[in-house]
Amino acid sequence: MAEACGVDTKVPCRISISALNRTQISARDEAFLWFYRAESVRQYFGEGRPSKLYVWTLKLSSNAPRSAYSPGDAMSHVVAAQQGKGLTTLWRIMVLTWRHPWMVIITILSCFISSALQLWTPLLLGQAVDRAEGVLDGGVGAAEALWTIAVILLVVSVFRGLFTMSMNYFGEAVGHHTAYELRLAVYEKIQRLSFSYHDKVHTGDLITVGMLDLEGVRMFFATGLLRVVLLGTLIGVGAYMLISTDWILGLLALSFAPFVAVNSSITQLKLRATWLMLQERLQDLSRVMEENLGGIRVVRAFAGARHEMKKYNGASDAALKLAHDRVNIRVNSTSIMNISFFVSMALVLWYGGERVISGEMTVGTLAAFLTFMTILQMPVRQLGLLVNSFARASTCGNRLFAFLDLEIEIRDEPGAKPLKLSEGTLRFENVDFAYPSAPFRPVLAGVSFEGRKGETIGIVGKPGSGKSTIAHLIPRFYDVTGGRVTIDGQDVRAVTLASLRQAVAVVQQDSFLFTTNIENNIAYGDPWAKGARIASASEYAQLHNYIIGLPTGYETIVGERGVSLSGGQRQRLNIARSLMLRPAVMVFDDSTAAVDAGTEQRIRTAMKRFAKDRVTLIISHRLSSLMHADQILFIDEGKIVERGTHEELLALGGRYRALYDLQVKPGDDQLEAAE
Ligand SMILES: Nc1ncnc2c1ncn2[C@@H]1O[C@H](COP(=O)(O)OP(=O)(O)OP(=O)(O)O)[C@@H](O)[C@H]1O
Ligand SMILES: [Mg+2]
Repeated sequence: MAEACGVDTKVPCRISISALNRTQISARDEAFLWFYRAESVRQYFGEGRPSKLYVWTLKLSSNAPRSAYSPGDAMSHVVAAQQGKGLTTLWRIMVLTWRHPWMVIITILSCFISSALQLWTPLLLGQAVDRAEGVLDGGVGAAEALWTIAVILLVVSVFRGLFTMSMNYFGEAVGHHTAYELRLAVYEKIQRLSFSYHDKVHTGDLITVGMLDLEGVRMFFATGLLRVVLLGTLIGVGAYMLISTDWILGLLALSFAPFVAVNSSITQLKLRATWLMLQERLQDLSRVMEENLGGIRVVRAFAGARHEMKKYNGASDAALKLAHDRVNIRVNSTSIMNISFFVSMALVLWYGGERVISGEMTVGTLAAFLTFMTILQMPVRQLGLLVNSFARASTCGNRLFAFLDLEIEIRDEPGAKPLKLSEGTLRFENVDFAYPSAPFRPVLAGVSFEGRKGETIGIVGKPGSGKSTIAHLIPRFYDVTGGRVTIDGQDVRAVTLASLRQAVAVVQQDSFLFTTNIENNIAYGDPWAKGARIASASEYAQLHNYIIGLPTGYETIVGERGVSLSGGQRQRLNIARSLMLRPAVMVFDDSTAAVDAGTEQRIRTAMKRFAKDRVTLIISHRLSSLMHADQILFIDEGKIVERGTHEELLALGGRYRALYDLQVKPGDDQLEAAE
C-alpha cells in the first residue's frame, strides 16, 4: 500500500488512492482516517512524500492485519509515547529513550572508551617528556622509546576520534528517534482534541508544545544523560589518577574544580531564566508580526503603520535588553572560571616545580599533571550545562506529557458502535447546552425538533441566539448538557465519532482553503473521489462553470499562495466540499451569506435532488434562503419561540412575520417589531 501511494515517486497520493476499492474500508478504518485526514491532506497535497503516519492510515484502509505493522510504523510510536505514564518526567523520558536499547548501549560504550583514551593521553605525554629528556641527555634507547610513544599517541588519538564520533552520532540519533515518536504522538493528539480545548488554549501555545518542549526532551539524552556518564568518568577517573599519583599536587590541580562547577551551574541557571524571558519576548514579537500580517488590510486602511511600528519597537527593545543581559552573564562567568583555573595552574607549577628541582618528581609527571588539568577543565565547565539540561528537560517534559496525557472530552464512549442509518431522522430532545468555557451561561434551553429524510428545516434568529450552536451539537463538536440529540434513534454520544462525522456535514460560516488545487480542496472529505463526482459537487454548488473558465481549471492552486477566491466563491467551494461526504444530515450555517440572491436561488434548485436523501438544516439571516423549508424554527436566546411553515408563521403574525415584513419592505416600525 505504501508503494501504491507513491512513497518514492512524485505521484500525488490522491490519484493512487482513488484506485482503492472504497467498499474495502471498514468503519474502524474510517475512524482512523478521520483523525489523520488533516495529515493525509498535507501529505498528498504537499511535498509529495507521505509521512509514515499517512502510510499507516493507508495500511489501515486496506484492512492490513495488525501483525503487519513493523516497529517503524506510526501506530507503535503513538502507543509508545504513552509508556512511562505516571512516572516522574525525567524517568519517563528515560523509559522512552530505552526504546532504542542498542543505540543507547553503543553510545554509552563509545563514551567510556573515548573517555579512557582521553585520560590515557596525559600519561603518554608525560612519558614522552621524560623520554625526550633522556634523548637530550644521550640516554641509550631513549630515541626509540620516544618514537614508540609517539606512535601509540597517534593511534590513541585516532581511536579516540572514532569513538567520540560514534558517541556523538548515536547520542544524537537516540534523541531524534525519541523526538520523532513524540512528534507523531503530539500530532495525533491534536487531531483528537475537543473544540472546547481550542476555545481555551491559544494556537501558539500548542505550537510551543510541539516544537520547543519537544526539543527540550529531545536534547535530554545527548546533553543530559550522556553527559552524566561522560563527565562522571572524566572527572572521577581523572581526579583519582591525579590524587593517587601525588595527593598534594592532585588537590592543588583540582582546586579550581569546585569554583568552576558552582559558577558554571549558577551561570547556566541564570542564562536559562533569561532565555525563558527572551523566549516570551520573541513570542510577543512574532505575535505582533502575525497579527500585523493577518490584519494587513485593516492596518493599511486605517493608516495604522506608525502605531504598529511602535508596538513592534517596544517588544524589540525588551528582547534586545535581555540579549545584552545574557552576554554580560556569560562574559562575567567566563572570566571567573578562567581566573580560578589559572590560579590553580600557577599553584601546580610552583609546588610541582619545587619538587622537580629537588628531584622528587620527573618533568614528565609535572607535564602530565598540567595536561590532565587542561583536559579536566572542559568537563568541569560543562557541569553547568548538565544542570541546565536537567532543568530544561524537566519543565519541557512536564508540559509535553501533560499535553499527551490530556483527557479528551469528546471521544468514543467505551463500546461505541458505528452509526447505523436507516430512516435518516434527526431529533433534538429537550436539549440544554452551555459552552464549557462559560458553564453558567445557558446558550440553548429545551430545544426539541425533528427532521426526517428529505425534509428541510430552517433556523432563524438574532445574532448570538444559538443557531450555530445547534449545528455544533449534531456532529458532537460539543456535548449537550441536558437532553439528547439522536440520529435514527441512536444518541450521538453512543456512536463512534468517525461514523457520526461522516454522516453529518456542517458547512461553516467561514471557509478554509488549503494551499493546493481546487480539486483537492473539494475532495478533502473523500480522498477516493473521482473527478466526475468532484465536478458534480461543484455543479450543485454553482461553481463548476467558474472553475472550468479558469486557465488551469480544477488544477488551479488556491489558498494563501494561490489564486484568491472571493467570499462567495469560497463559500460555494465549501458547500461542494461538504456535498462530497454524501451526509445523512447536512447543515448550512449561513453558508450562502456572501452569495448573491440569484446564485443562491440556483444552488437551491440544484440541491433539491440532493436534499431528497437527507435532512437539511438551513441557518440563515436571509428569509429567502429558508422560507421554502418544511419547518422553520425561530430562535431567541436559546429557545424556540416560534415554529411552523412559512405560511403558518406569517399567519401567526409574530416575530417571524415582523422579520419578513422588514426584509420585504423595511421601515422603522417593522424594525422595532423585529427586534
Ligand atoms: N466557543 C464558544 N465559547 C463560549 N461561548 C460561545 C462560543 N461560541 C459561541 N458562544 C456564545 O454562545 C451564544 C450563541 O452563539 P452562536 O454562535 O450559536 O450564535 P448564532 O445564533 O449562530 O449567531 P450568528 O447569527 O451571529 O452566527 C453567543 O452568545 C456566543 O457568544
Ligand atoms: Mg452563527
